[in-house]
Amino acid sequence: MSDFPRSLLPAFPRFRRLRRSAALRDLVAEVRLDPARLVLPLFLVPGRARRHPVASMPCVFQLSPDEAMREIEEALAEGIRAFIFFGVIPREQKNDLGSAALDPENVVCETLRLVRGKGLPAVAITDLCLCEYTAHGHCGPLSAADKDGPRNVDNDATLELLSRQAVNHARAGADVVAPSGMMDGMVARIRAGLDAAGFAETAILSYAVKYASAFYGPFREAAESAPAFGDRRAYQMDGRRRREALAEALADVNQGADVVMVKPGMPCLDILRDLRDRLEVPLAAYQVSGEYAMIKAASANGWLDGRAAMLESLVALHRAGADFLLTYFAREAARALREEAR
Ligand code: PBG
Repeated sequence: MSDFPRSLLPAFPRFRRLRRSAALRDLVAEVRLDPARLVLPLFLVPGRARRHPVASMPCVFQLSPDEAMREIEEALAEGIRAFIFFGVIPREQKNDLGSAALDPENVVCETLRLVRGKGLPAVAITDLCLCEYTAHGHCGPLSAADKDGPRNVDNDATLELLSRQAVNHARAGADVVAPSGMMDGMVARIRAGLDAAGFAETAILSYAVKYASAFYGPFREAAESAPAFGDRRAYQMDGRRRREALAEALADVNQGADVVMVKPGMPCLDILRDLRDRLEVPLAAYQVSGEYAMIKAASANGWLDGRAAMLESLVALHRAGADFLLTYFAREAARALREEAR
């Protein structure tokens, strides 16, 4: 050892060498955000020229179809190419079954037809769930009162409705349907319904791994879909279970899901990594309304740098394994990325 040239002895690692400049950091970055990986959620309301702010989500609006078209065209110009639609309907159109979800004239279908009619190069994804359409705000019709506890969503009765809702969206021009109701067997039933109706090309993005979460709070204001009683813990997942996520995701892949999604985002980085390492299908993450609201609120108070926190949170989701991200920050992030690239 004594005649070994000192210069060849292992040095302590100098990690900082590759952090010295932005160009060096960019050179060795393992992930890079790209607007093409971001999906912008839109809340659609009937009518014309409506642009109604959502109090708990600054910069997010309920939009009538004409306003949504404007939003989509502006976002496309900024590099955002995919959108997910949520329908918000007047209370008087809601009932216990959520049957307005099956109406070919509803606001989601109307907007899809506008997008297709204009030939916009947008990926149109639709949220497939009944909670925005049921009077009680749960994700499907309720089963008969159960002597042992509160009423719960009737899983198998909901499947048929979801399958018909999927066909309704596909017929109006959806590229992708995204079932979010956490019904067992939903993907198989929706796939069968789409295929039977001649929509074999319509893809399914399954909210396969959706934990019950307080972070959905602001969304329920935006979508006017808060449950009238109880909560969703009898159908959404329990955050204390990690292994079940793989079982849920595998079940959906085996039923024909083209993409699986994990939700909420930042509370589930471990889950994203588990699935990325064990599945071959594309993986999506939903940075949900509460995650957005937290960053916006802290930023508005001057408590953190909103733009940096936004980009950091999106990088974390991508690095954890998500190929693409649903985020209310989509347009803001696309603009920030463009500025950074300059
Ligand atoms: C519909 C649905 C919800 C979200 C997406 N689809 C609400 C819920 O499960 O209560 C939440 C999205 C968000 O918080 O941004 N079931």
